Amino acid sequence: MKTRLLRIAAASVLAIAVSAGIAWWQVRSATTTVESGAKSAVPIGGPFTLTDQSGKAVTDTDFRGKYMLIYFGYTYCPDVCPTELGVMTQALDQLGPKAEQVRPVFITIDPDRDTVAHMKDYVALFHPRMVGLTGTPEQVRDAARAYRVYYAKAPQKDGKPDEYLMDHSSFIYLMGPDGKFVGVYPGGTGADKIVQDLSSRIAG
Ligand code: NI
Repeated sequence: MKTRLLRIAAASVLAIAVSAGIAWWQVRSATTTVESGAKSAVPIGGPFTLTDQSGKAVTDTDFRGKYMLIYFGYTYCPDVCPTELGVMTQALDQLGPKAEQVRPVFITIDPDRDTVAHMKDYVALFHPRMVGLTGTPEQVRDAARAYRVYYAKAPQKDGKPDEYLMDHSSFIYLMGPDGKFVGVYPGGTGADKIVQDLSSRIAG
């Protein structure tokens, strides 16, 4: 278990290093407030085409006009993903009417197991407006690449072939109503901090 955690930690560091655009100080300071991505040398985010939990094809442009909180993970995740999606949900619940300006989005990095039907059941456990996106392995790979998300299958020694965990980086991305990258909340950021930050950004 310890080794696995270390591997995930290493993977997260790698993801950050790969992204290069998010300087360490930016990510670290995001524990108090998310930093503007305007200075980012490497673009975060970009076009994607995926399928939502009702089976409809969607692209990033379908989300314009609202902020997006995006988390990449997988439904079989035993711990980190449900925790982070829970934090996202909690933040939106606390945000009050301003939450209407924010779309919570969960994108799977395990398209082999996370079918449309599976995503539908899963996102319903969290927020009524949460969008669950899956797609072909290629579509998921492209979306993850655009957001500099690291993920890899971690087969279990004694498990069956379909019983595996996924190592993945853990960030909640905030995208603006124009679709542009605003910043990230690193995994472990409390709902209060997210609420504070979102509240200061959303007018009204
Ligand atoms: Ni996870």
